[in-house]
Amino acid sequence: MSVPGLWSFQHILMLSVLTGAADGYYFHQWTQCIYSSPDLSDMVYIEGFYFNKYPFVKFNSTVGKFVGFTEFGVRIAENYNNDPGILQQTRAQVDVFCRHNAEVTEAAVYNKTVQPRVKLRSVMPGDDTHPALVMCSVYDFYPERIKVSWYEDGVLVTSDVTSTEELPNGDWLYQIHSELEYTPRAGQQISCVVEHASFSKPMVYHWDPPVPEFELNVELLLAVETAGLMLGITTAAAGFIYYKIRTGL
Ligand SMILES: *[C@@H]1O[C@H](CO)[C@@H](O)[C@H](O)[C@H]1NC(C)=O
Repeated sequence: MSVPGLWSFQHILMLSVLTGAADGYYFHQWTQCIYSSPDLSDMVYIEGFYFNKYPFVKFNSTVGKFVGFTEFGVRIAENYNNDPGILQQTRAQVDVFCRHNAEVTEAAVYNKTVQPRVKLRSVMPGDDTHPALVMCSVYDFYPERIKVSWYEDGVLVTSDVTSTEELPNGDWLYQIHSELEYTPRAGQQISCVVEHASFSKPMVYHWDPPVPEFELNVELLLAVETAGLMLGITTAAAGFIYYKIRTGL
């Protein structure tokens, strides 16, 4: 029974010997462009040289020269700083590499907006004992940042509101859902207001509560009855006139 165990142990050992080469020495170079200002004026270019994860030389465009962190790193930095070609080329990176790429990326991604589709629907109609529930669903917008609020008769409602986070669709677009609990009153006006970078102003969506079925039926019944009555009167009048004409002749 111990043989398979021993075998697998040897197997693991061999694997680790084989993969051991991958755990050897790492050198990597990492360049970063850091900025927050929309006009890219605060752009900083960072170039770092790492050996087994530890930085030994770094270039920071604000400092404008290479700085060494180990004995070896200090020597490298000195060599680079004394080479006008390397120094000039690296100093230019903040414009040539960072600002150029940031402009391209901003134009391609960040400044793009996609207007959402907004849908209002009843979740619960509400009755004498239960409040009504209405949902404002905002679909397929970009970028993520959005504000969805509720207004009742022009006044901002903050209580009885439940919202989801901005949910990523997985296709760069987002959706968000907000629910308002309210007590239905005659003549009240409820609206969902959406503020987003794709709109030049806040967009107001008015909620038309569905007409309860009962009221709808009464109205329909009245209309049908009225039509029937009118038809009856017209027929009777026509018949009477016809009779008069016939008998009058
Ligand atoms: C670059 O250098 C500036 C000035 O010394 C410093 O304020 C900044 O933190 C440095 N940036 C990085 C990422 O090291």
